Amino acid sequence: MRSLLFVPADSPRKLEKSLGCGADALIVDLEDSVALAAKPAAREAARAFITAARQAAARPRLILRVNSLDSGLLEADLDAVMASAPDAVMLPKSRHGADVQNLAAKLAVREAEFGLPDGSTQIIAIATETAGALFGLASYAGASRRLAGLTWGAEDLSAALGAETARLADGSHADPYRLARALTLLAARAADAEPIDTVFTDFRDNAGLAAECAAARRDGFSGKMAIHPAQAAVINAAFAPPPEAVERARKIVAAFAQNPGAGVLSIDGLMTDRPHLLRAERLLSRL
Ligand code: COA
Ligand code: MG
Repeated sequence: MRSLLFVPADSPRKLEKSLGCGADALIVDLEDSVALAAKPAAREAARAFITAARQAAARPRLILRVNSLDSGLLEADLDAVMASAPDAVMLPKSRHGADVQNLAAKLAVREAEFGLPDGSTQIIAIATETAGALFGLASYAGASRRLAGLTWGAEDLSAALGAETARLADGSHADPYRLARALTLLAARAADAEPIDTVFTDFRDNAGLAAECAAARRDGFSGKMAIHPAQAAVINAAFAPPPEAVERARKIVAAFAQNPGAGVLSIDGLMTDRPHLLRAERLLSRL
């Protein structure tokens, strides 16, 4: 999944608009973009939307963002929406692997109640929204077979830290958020889950978004969340590997295939060994 678009579940207009924008996944949101009084209606809308969207032959992946474990709202979210069989549930304010394990148990119960295959609902955790959560990042590996992705957030973390802003004047993130980003990448790969980059909220600045996507792809993130439909195409294009990189990866894979006994080869004058081969194979697997 390259692009994952947040869509507030209490907005029929945005739900409808989201289906045509080309995002690889839609995150139907019941949490921060929906006011408390609107949650019950938003749950009903989310269930109807996911049920209908699942019928299309070619469709984006459908992710339900629930409220956090400590919100007092999560059980009602799942009771109301799980019958629609979302592909994944996104858990905000996740503190450590045990929170994912906890959600996994709740999903198993709903799958049984609603006649869904056991284990069919994946989990994507937002793993850096509280100060303590950064210290829990090592615990996601092995937490649950459902864990498909880890992502990070700067907005909630900056509020938790008492910061004035998460971004510097040049648009880059301040140190605490750069740390959260890097640790999320490491924790996701360690847990065999996809690392997903956080949102870029200035939705009129597509050049800034493209630059942030390029940096994320360079560092190993597999995709990025979006808040506006116009961001999906920018993200999809930016996460496609550049043609030069594809060409070089093909050359590396071919060279090792032709020299099966070789540990190291010189390709275009550059030392090329096993990590380069693995990187090339991983890049080609994304095509
Ligand atoms: N999903 C689907 N459609 C969206 C959308 C979204 N996230 N954001 C905007 N749209 C639609 C609008 O409804 C509008 O449709 P219309 O022309 O048919 O009325 C069109 O795209 C253009 O929107 P625009 O006028 O440029 O923006 P806006 O002022 O309507 O909305 C936001 C701006 C930020 C409020 C809106 O993008 C949004 O709600 N984003 C998601 C926020 C969210 O989920 N946050 C939580 C996670 S961080
Ligand atoms: Mg939030």
